[in-house]
Amino acid sequence: MLTRNSLCLLLWILFDGGLLTPLQPQPQQTVATQSKENVIHLPGRQPHFQRVKRGWVWNQFFVLEEYMGSEPQYVGKLHSDLDKGEGTVKYTLSGDGAGTVFTIDETTGDIHAIRSLDREEKPFYTLRAQAVDIETRKPLEPESEFIIKVQDINDNEPKFLDGPYVASVPEMSPVGAYVLQVKATDADDPTYGNSARVVYSILQGQPYFSIDPKTGVIRTALPNMDREVKEQYQVLIQAKDMGGQLGGLAGTTIVNITLTDVNDNPPRFPKSIFHLKVPESSPIGSAIGRIRAVDPDFGKNAEIEYNIVPGDGGNLFDIVTDEDTQEGIIKLKKPLDFETKKAYTFKVEASNLHLDHRFHSAGPFKDTATVKISVLDVDEPPVFSKPLYTMEVYEDTPVGTIIGAVTAQDLDMGSSAVRYFIDWKSDGDSYFTIDGTEGTIATNELLDRESTAQYNFSIIASKVSNPLLTSKVNILINVLDVNEFPPEISVPYETAVCENAKPGQIIQTVSAADRDLSPAGQQFSFRLPPEAAIKPNFTVHDFRNNTAGIETRRNGYSRRQQELYFLPVVIEDSSYPVQSSTSTMTIRVCRCDSDGTILSCNVEAIFLPVGLSTGALIAILLCIVILLG
Ligand SMILES: *[C@@H]1O[C@H](CO)[C@@H](O)[C@H](O)[C@H]1NC(C)=O
Ligand SMILES: *[C@@H]1O[C@H](CO)[C@@H](O)[C@H](O)[C@H]1NC(C)=O
Repeated sequence: MLTRNSLCLLLWILFDGGLLTPLQPQPQQTVATQSKENVIHLPGRQPHFQRVKRGWVWNQFFVLEEYMGSEPQYVGKLHSDLDKGEGTVKYTLSGDGAGTVFTIDETTGDIHAIRSLDREEKPFYTLRAQAVDIETRKPLEPESEFIIKVQDINDNEPKFLDGPYVASVPEMSPVGAYVLQVKATDADDPTYGNSARVVYSILQGQPYFSIDPKTGVIRTALPNMDREVKEQYQVLIQAKDMGGQLGGLAGTTIVNITLTDVNDNPPRFPKSIFHLKVPESSPIGSAIGRIRAVDPDFGKNAEIEYNIVPGDGGNLFDIVTDEDTQEGIIKLKKPLDFETKKAYTFKVEASNLHLDHRFHSAGPFKDTATVKISVLDVDEPPVFSKPLYTMEVYEDTPVGTIIGAVTAQDLDMGSSAVRYFIDWKSDGDSYFTIDGTEGTIATNELLDRESTAQYNFSIIASKVSNPLLTSKVNILINVLDVNEFPPEISVPYETAVCENAKPGQIIQTVSAADRDLSPAGQQFSFRLPPEAAIKPNFTVHDFRNNTAGIETRRNGYSRRQQELYFLPVVIEDSSYPVQSSTSTMTIRVCRCDSDGTILSCNVEAIFLPVGLSTGALIAILLCIVILLG
């Protein structure tokens, strides 16, 4: 027999193939009968109940959504096997939408939809049917459940719920670089027909970008897209259902795509020579001019580093980058002097700090320009010949004595004469004067080292042609001490010589002392006075270290002949004015042993036996007198 299964299958195929769309209800749409009517046979108390029950899955009707016909839409027919067509059976309907959405003809079992339905709102209705004996009002069979499915029509267009989109992709990306995936959603039934089968296409934005029709992935479609030429793209994307076929519904969205920067441009100087005019008086470290290279890239990729190409001309200058403007600021490293050099020329290089190897490997990724600097003459103050003058003067110098001079010169062209004066602000006294024309400094009062040992003041030089142009120099005047005291022999003044001494022996070392305080230390010299230097018995040997030795000149010194010698010694200092003194040394002649150890210097001991004291001798003499007496 022709089963429900095969019929139903047939219906699915018809729907699926779109042959029944736009969906016109088939008046005698059948699901499950031999007579090809759309009839559900209520199960009844039949021996093959079990078999029929298994077939309930087919007990479903289909009704079209969005049906706009003037008559209620025929859904199908309920039929009980116990209904012999004699009008004794009444059909009732309960469940979802019974009476409000669906009505049933009590007698024929015909079901109609009396309202337009929306699958997207409610895809199916579960209803229960019953056949009742019209006389006894008793159910002829147990209640049966069945389903009315709302058949989808393509009444929803795809929608981009996340649109409009914003995306970016690096410039110069290769063709096919991923940009973004878009997604459109279609509310229609994805399991039935093509109403929810979406296909993407690009309406605006070609030939720069492409979209995968199935996945919605947007990719670049042109090589070498250059941000510096065009940065922003507005791409219009369409999603169309029915697999993109004619008659499908479509939705669109906008994707704003920005090309992000890569460092594909080196900096370029807009001109090859920059001229700068700089006054020679510009201070060291000051900015004397700016040059600018242009880099069309963006952000980090447009950061420029400037360098002076090493060479003679650039030694006096530095260049740094202004972070805000990316200009090169040229700064002065050493002083300029118009009178020495009037112009400088050097080369400057501009390069990027952050390089992209894909581009800079192709060639030099930098640019060079020439900077020409003209030094401007400035009327400058006179220049002193020394940064500091130091002079010395003795404390007893007469008033009006010239003690030194300062010199300042005007180095400018035209070389004006210079006038000098003492800056009394620097030192309140008036001990010195300066000759305004010559720059000579003289004493103005008697100086006293003990009250002021050093004067420290400033001298100002100004140009006659422009007295406001002045320079100042410091002068230090040291007051020197005058030598007031002669040096003298330090102790001892007395010494001894052995009777058995040989010529050339140093019998005593002497040193000297001076009451003058000399900061540099005194230098003393020792000698005999001229009258004592003729056939001397002793001489003075100057060791040149502020000491001297007393030296024997002969042998045969004898106490009996001469007990004492007096030796005059002249000592001289080295200060101004030189002071000297003559000290007399006393040299006693003594008896010594062979080693030079002194044994006796007394005259009386000459006549007496060795080893006896004077007391013992007196005692012996007394004894002799007594014995003789
Ligand atoms: C001299 O005076 C100047 C200015 O007052 C000062 O800078 C300098 O140190 C002084 N020199 C000496 C040796 O005192
Ligand atoms: C040196 O000694 C001798 C003998 O004692 C003496 O006559 C002579 O005057 C001495 N010479 C001097 C320069 O003192």
